[in-house]
Amino acid sequence: LQFFCCSNDGVNQHMIWLIGLKNIFARQLPNMPKEYIVRLVMDRTHKSMMVIRNNHVVGGITYRPYASQTFGEIAFCAITADEQVKGYGTRLMNHLKQHARDIDGLTHFLTYADNNAVGYFLKQGFTKEITFDKNRWQGYIKDYDGGILMECKINPKLPYTD
Ligand code: ACO
Repeated sequence: LQFFCCSNDGVNQHMIWLIGLKNIFARQLPNMPKEYIVRLVMDRTHKSMMVIRNNHVVGGITYRPYASQTFGEIAFCAITADEQVKGYGTRLMNHLKQHARDIDGLTHFLTYADNNAVGYFLKQGFTKEITFDKNRWQGYIKDYDGGILMECKINPKLPYTD
């Protein structure tokens, strides 16, 4: 099992994995327009942390780091249907936190969580209470109804992965 983060950087293998991830999002997030998913996954300002097994993507998280504001917005998060509830979602989020802190220099994540995914985000340390300074994120993330805004504070020292 491999955890790999990249953006649409023109590398063939990265493109193949991102398309695989886009297909998982399209299936697992049926309320999201497919064009919107493609646009964000392929947008060069977005990055995706992916779970890869035998060279195939089984899930991932697409996010946009706002380095100057020290936060990242999680756009999509999913694990393919037959691999859910095996702990991949938790390990994926831990790898994302480590990468976001050590490579992107982020202190927080924000996301609009689907109602049925709130439980997952709560288990990953997200809260419905937003403590991150509004001046840092207001105007950067777009309002989206049908979701609950949640925040995660990234621990500055904790080793999230082994
Ligand atoms: N509601 C409540 N708890 C959940 C949910 C859920 N929807 N999904 C997982 N959990 C729990 C698990 O029971 C587990 O609890 P435990 O640690 O006490 O055993 C814990 O969260 C972690 O479980 P994992 O096995 O690590 O999670 P998984 O690999 O299944 O990934 C995910 C979770 C990404 C939500 C997956 O189930 C999925 O793809 N769901 C469909 C798509 C989806 O809803 N994505 C999020 C939409 S919101 C957004 O993208 C911003």
